[in-house]
Order: sequence, then C-alpha cells, then structure tokens
Amino acid sequence: MKRLLFINACVRAESRTRFLAEKLLSRWEGEVSELNLEQLALRPLTAETLARRDALLAAGNYADAMFDPARRLVEADTVVIAAPYWDCSFPAAVKVFVEQVMVNGLTFTFTDDGMPHGKCRAKKLWYVSTAGGPVIGTNLGFEYIRQVSSLYWGIPEAELIQAECLDLIGADPEAILAETTAELPSLL
Ligand SMILES: Cc1cc2nc3c(=O)[nH]c(=O)nc-3n(C[C@H](O)[C@H](O)[C@H](O)COP(=O)(O)O)c2cc1C
Repeated sequence: MKRLLFINACVRAESRTRFLAEKLLSRWEGEVSELNLEQLALRPLTAETLARRDALLAAGNYADAMFDPARRLVEADTVVIAAPYWDCSFPAAVKVFVEQVMVNGLTFTFTDDGMPHGKCRAKKLWYVSTAGGPVIGTNLGFEYIRQVSSLYWGIPEAELIQAECLDLIGADPEAILAETTAELPSLL
C-alpha cells in the first residue's frame, strides 16, 4: 500500500490550513502517517547535537532515533506539508524539521562535483497553506520547500494549494475555503 507522509505544522485548534490539508488527504487511498511538528517538538541543532549527529554519520549509524523523521521522509511515496503562512513563510518548526532531515547519506548524497543527489522515494510534494492577507509576490515558505525538496530530497515536483485573504475585514473565510476545496486536485 502506498504511504503518504503528512507533515503537520498547524498549531491552532481551529486551523484552516489543517482543514484544507485534511480535505486533500481524504482523496488519498493508501496509508497516511503524520508527523505533527508541535507534538514532535524538534529542537534546532546545537553544538552538542550537531557533534552527536556528526559522530553517528561518521560511524554510518543511521538507525539512531535522531534520524526517524528523515527515514519517514525517505520512505514516503507522497508528501503533504501543511503550514500556515506566517511572517511571509512558515512557522519556525518547519525550518527545524528541514534541519533535522537534511542527513547526508540518508536523504541525500553529494556527487563528486559537489551536487546534491536526493534519495527520497516520493515523486511529488504538496504544500498546503492559508494566509490572513494577500500573499504578495510569492509564498517564500513554499518556494523554499520546493527548492530543498527538489535539490536535496530528490522530489521532482512540488505543488502549492493556498487560500488567501482569510483575515481581511469583511472576508468570508468559509466561502474562500469552500472554493479552494472545490478546486482541490486528485492526489493520485
Ligand atoms: C504568527 C503569525 C504570523 C502571521 N503572518 C502573516 C503574514 O505574514 N501574512 C499574512 O497574510 N498573514 C499572516 N498571518 C495570518 C495567517 O496567515 C492566517 O490567519 C492563516 O489562515 C492562519 O492559518 P491557520 O488557520 O491554519 O492557523 C499570521 C498569523 C500568525 C499567528
């Protein structure tokens, strides 16, 4: 059975981003496993954890629990990230997640000429987001994830599903979400 990894960076109980992501997930016919970033409470790398990680990698020990999120990412057939639009990108927990899964030898390797070569199985990543105002220019959170996932994880395609202007005075968030939901693509 195909495995979808749901990386959930939504924090509010009434999260509209999670609402949209769940609508998308309901179209998936395989197995869904979730990494809830708030519950996982990953920590930014420190001198101590970086040294520990370097020692594990030097020993080729990828079985350590530190690498669990990276292994889950590598093994997924499809990836869905749900992240509200915060401060022009995403909650900091998403960056900490990226930091934790960038594991040389597991998620990627380097070629002799220094180019990263991604090792993830997934061919597509979906990025779901909602924004209080209009997203001016580009969603930098999505652009960053798209770059990282194509260059370092080896996931060639990334697609953004986004609802904007939910918090504007006079806005009808339910109607905006219903419109976005009606346009959701198939996950297959
Ligand atoms: C910490 C924080 C930062 C935010 N930054 C932005 C922002 O830069 N631009 C914007 O349009 N909305 C911003 N918002 C509003 C959210 O994008 C909006 O309410 C979104 O729908 C929240 O998603 P959720 O319902 O899944 O929690 C911010 C909200 C919070 C709590």
